[in-house]
Amino acid sequence: MSDQHKQDDYYAGFKPSEATKNAHGSRSAENNCQYMLPTLLQMAADKPNLRILDVGCGPGSITVSLAQYIPQGQIIGVDLSETVLEKANGLAREQQVANVSFQVANAYELPFEDGSCDIVHTSQAVVHLSEHSRAIREFARVTRKGGGVVCMREADTYTAAFYPRDPVLEDSWQRFIRVNETMDIQWDGGRRLKDWTVQAGIPAASIEFTAGSWCFHTLEQRRDFNGLRFWQGASADNAVESGVATREEIQEFQSAWQSWTDGDDSLLMMLHGQVIAHL
Ligand SMILES: C[S@@+](CC[C@H](N)C(=O)[O-])C[C@H]1O[C@@H](n2cnc3c(N)ncnc32)[C@H](O)[C@@H]1O
Repeated sequence: MSDQHKQDDYYAGFKPSEATKNAHGSRSAENNCQYMLPTLLQMAADKPNLRILDVGCGPGSITVSLAQYIPQGQIIGVDLSETVLEKANGLAREQQVANVSFQVANAYELPFEDGSCDIVHTSQAVVHLSEHSRAIREFARVTRKGGGVVCMREADTYTAAFYPRDPVLEDSWQRFIRVNETMDIQWDGGRRLKDWTVQAGIPAASIEFTAGSWCFHTLEQRRDFNGLRFWQGASADNAVESGVATREEIQEFQSAWQSWTDGDDSLLMMLHGQVIAHL
């Protein structure tokens, strides 16, 4: 891993809490893949035995829900982290979804033949890689030429809009971004995604780019987002060690997030960049 930054080992480096894995686990095809579902369904109508690869699948909730759209197809979720894949396997068993499997693999060196997947999907993972275009080139390598697609969605964290306009909450978000910047993460991946794809050698004319959004407003959604997790455990330690926040400030951030979660009028909106690259 000498030529890679520390975020290439996201879970090993950040030791995300159960809360973070649970927050990621609340994502589904319905709430994160609307931009690609029409393409997927059209492809599945033409070829029911689609083979989909989900790179950086994390706890697998998106992978498992995508599987249900291709009952005659197969979806494989890959991730660097073995522990997160245990969660993914548990979810597939619990939901009795048989056409999904998970394996440890590195996004830069996918253990699949050239052109062997109809769709390569990835959500919120490319931003954690130091060599974005190298990874996208690898996604394109394993995608079928002449009909296959690479589908990618990344948040643009700088676009987060909160209500109520609590200055402590807004300050906590800026500091959260700063902690991540100290780890070289380009947290504006959403707006960079098209350029990274072009740099991977995919012509701009073959790329459908759209902007999507997250909106957390119900109590359940606010709990799923769980902004408190950014200021607890290892994340709080990172903020202190990198000099971005003091323990006293972190306490204030925690109570601001608690009030945001509890407030009936609270909401969060954020933009995402979405790419469907046709190969
Ligand atoms: C923010 S999580 C996204 C999980 C899921 N796709 C989602 O949208 O909820 C990023 C995932 O990318 C994985 N990851 C980071 N670097 C990776 C690499 N080089 N190869 C494969 N997976 C990687 C991490 O382990 C983590 O599970």
